[in-house]
Amino acid sequence: MRTPLLAANWKMHKTVPEAVAFVTAFAPRVAAVTDADIVLAPPFTTLGAVADACRDTRIAVAGQNLHWAPEGAFTGEISPGMLAGAGASHVILGHSERRQLFGEDDALVARKTRAAIDAGLTPIVCVGETLDQREAGKTPAVLARQIDGSLAGVTPAELAALVVAYEPVWAIGTGRTATPDQAQDAHAHIRRCLAGLGGADAADACRLLYGGSVKPANAEAIAGQADVDGALVGGASLDPASFAEIVAAARRAAG
Ligand code: PGA
Repeated sequence: MRTPLLAANWKMHKTVPEAVAFVTAFAPRVAAVTDADIVLAPPFTTLGAVADACRDTRIAVAGQNLHWAPEGAFTGEISPGMLAGAGASHVILGHSERRQLFGEDDALVARKTRAAIDAGLTPIVCVGETLDQREAGKTPAVLARQIDGSLAGVTPAELAALVVAYEPVWAIGTGRTATPDQAQDAHAHIRRCLAGLGGADAADACRLLYGGSVKPANAEAIAGQADVDGALVGGASLDPASFAEIVAAARRAAG
């Protein structure tokens, strides 16, 4: 039985006071939640403050990216150890905005995944097809290539412990969500790809999140699909009441 996981991807939003105010409002709303894991991924500048604010809660904190090297002359970059030291336990890797806007490819994501695992961070590795790829019938091939490439070199035990997020690019920030059936089809395919990579047991244990215009109104139907183990939420995670409603919806779906 996989524990549902709800992750908030704040992207480039919130100053330190805004981030702390979010936690102050959000934490009491989920204080009684023990049957789902909750992760907040704030920008680097607020990560320490968010981790401090979450210290006596079950809410975990994630980076949105990292550099694979432990340290060095990489101006503007943040290492896995720096993230862990600031209080992060998870890290989002290979988000489509990183892939599309910052030129990240599967090989780089694999390198970052290895570095994250070696630093004790749980990677949330994102994959997903563009609209052109979907309309050309290439979704299964694109997802297979991204899974194989982004998770190259991961052992079965590591695979079982990490998180994969399926985020169709055409659904991110567009208000256009995959239907529950589309999400389930993609997730089942991803799980088969994971089984090819690390065996059926690891694939069965690995949590698969759906991401792309998840809101309180659609979260329960999506999270209710057999191979959907939670959500990676962008826009609707910026408001504490909205994200708390999504947590509640996913728990209803799991229960
Ligand atoms: P969205 O973003 O919920 O705003 O569509 C999801 C994501 O990019 O992780």
